[in-house]
Amino acid sequence: MSVFLRNCEFVMGGADLESLPPATLPEIAFAGRSNVGKSSLVNALTGRKTLAKASNTPGRTREINFFLLAESLMLVDLPGYGYAKAPKKDVARWTRLVKDYLAGRPNLRRVCLLIDSRHGIKDVDIEIMGMLDKAAVNYQIILTKTDKIKASELAQITEAAYAALKRHPAAHPQILVTSSEKKDGIEELRDELERFLS
Ligand code: GTP
Ligand code: MG
Repeated sequence: MSVFLRNCEFVMGGADLESLPPATLPEIAFAGRSNVGKSSLVNALTGRKTLAKASNTPGRTREINFFLLAESLMLVDLPGYGYAKAPKKDVARWTRLVKDYLAGRPNLRRVCLLIDSRHGIKDVDIEIMGMLDKAAVNYQIILTKTDKIKASELAQITEAAYAALKRHPAAHPQILVTSSEKKDGIEELRDELERFLS
């Protein structure tokens, strides 16, 4: 059985960098624009329905949420960047928090950078990728919600995402294609992330 299906518990949510858990265990963070499916992916990976709170309304996750997996790996569900149904100053504050976390967390081993497969890589994603390159943080592009588009569209978006990756040296060369809804690509992502277990 995958370690991702073992015990996983919510540890805490942090609203600023000063109130995060100690940077001791290896961490894997889930980042991306609001509503791309970060919280849903954490649930799909861990085989739960409501461990991380997902919602139709962009801007659901407002703190950095830590989930401890099998006493050995921290899964980190981040607030989304970009558009959200919330006051501008709140969105600006989470975006700042997410950027500071991503660029400065010493035990961060991998960022799963989620891209909605209907929309592809946007300017704001490119900005985050540039920041991760600069901070030398290891990251991988994960296309989400692939159940919502046709195979031909997915092929096109995937190709465009690979083309964009060429300019980003810190990015993992493989793009994973997932649907949390249909559980497509979830096993592959677990296999990819298991190597970060302490
Ligand atoms: P924020 O916390 O607001 O930044 O959003 P998020 O990135 O955590 O997205 P969340 O997981 O809350 O999902 C947003 C919406 O997309 C919810 O209504 C989910 O049910 C839906 N969703 C997520 N993943 C999938 C998927 O693979 N397929 C489909 N069809 N819908 C999905
Ligand atoms: Mg969320």
